[in-house]
Amino acid sequence: MPEFMGVEQRRILHALDIDVWLPRDIAADAATGVDGSEESLAADMDWSALESAVSACTQCSLHQTRKQTVFGGGDPAAQWMIIGEAPGADEDRQGQPFVGKAGQMLNEMLRALGLDRERVFIANILKCRPPNNRDPQVDEVASCMDFLRCQVALVKPQLIVAAGRIAAQHLLNEDKPVGQLRGRVHSFAGPEQSTPVIVTYHPACLLRSPGQKRKAWEDLCLARSVCEASGT
Ligand code: URA
Repeated sequence: MPEFMGVEQRRILHALDIDVWLPRDIAADAATGVDGSEESLAADMDWSALESAVSACTQCSLHQTRKQTVFGGGDPAAQWMIIGEAPGADEDRQGQPFVGKAGQMLNEMLRALGLDRERVFIANILKCRPPNNRDPQVDEVASCMDFLRCQVALVKPQLIVAAGRIAAQHLLNEDKPVGQLRGRVHSFAGPEQSTPVIVTYHPACLLRSPGQKRKAWEDLCLARSVCEASGT
């Protein structure tokens, strides 16, 4: 990476609120710190630099099988952030999160709360589709998690809803199932602030097991009460 785009310069520009444009070929380098820096630059990026870094990312082997990355979608200043697992086939094709059947279920859940998807920000633990929708692997999550941390730091949501086991376990560094994590308020520690996290079932799980919808509704009501308590 050219000297003028070093970590310190980018930090100063960021502090001055000056957008930093990164060409696609070096955006990927910025994400991995291949300029020799130990530090992940994702922690420093503004929204558009982050989008560029995600779309150019080749940090794990999923870049070889993806059609495109799925950055996330919705309001970048949302009070609610919904975090799922990883793009599926529909998301990989369209470049947007939760657009398949699980997405329709998520839309219904949000509508029941009086929210629509443009008012929240929806992202995933992984930005690329794992082949055959298999579970994300440890190295894939490790490569991608800085992007999500940076998204949370930039959106500054009042609340995160972790949709499903994979999201909950990776956000909370837990190995318990959803049934043991839901029903209470957890916390996601960011660099500048901690964000309350509510765990609920994945919308795809609700499609398979509609009997869990009542519990999911209770989770969303808990999420709403956490937001109300924080004055929003
Ligand atoms: N399932 C997820 O976890 N995320 C998506 O974006 C789509 C399906």
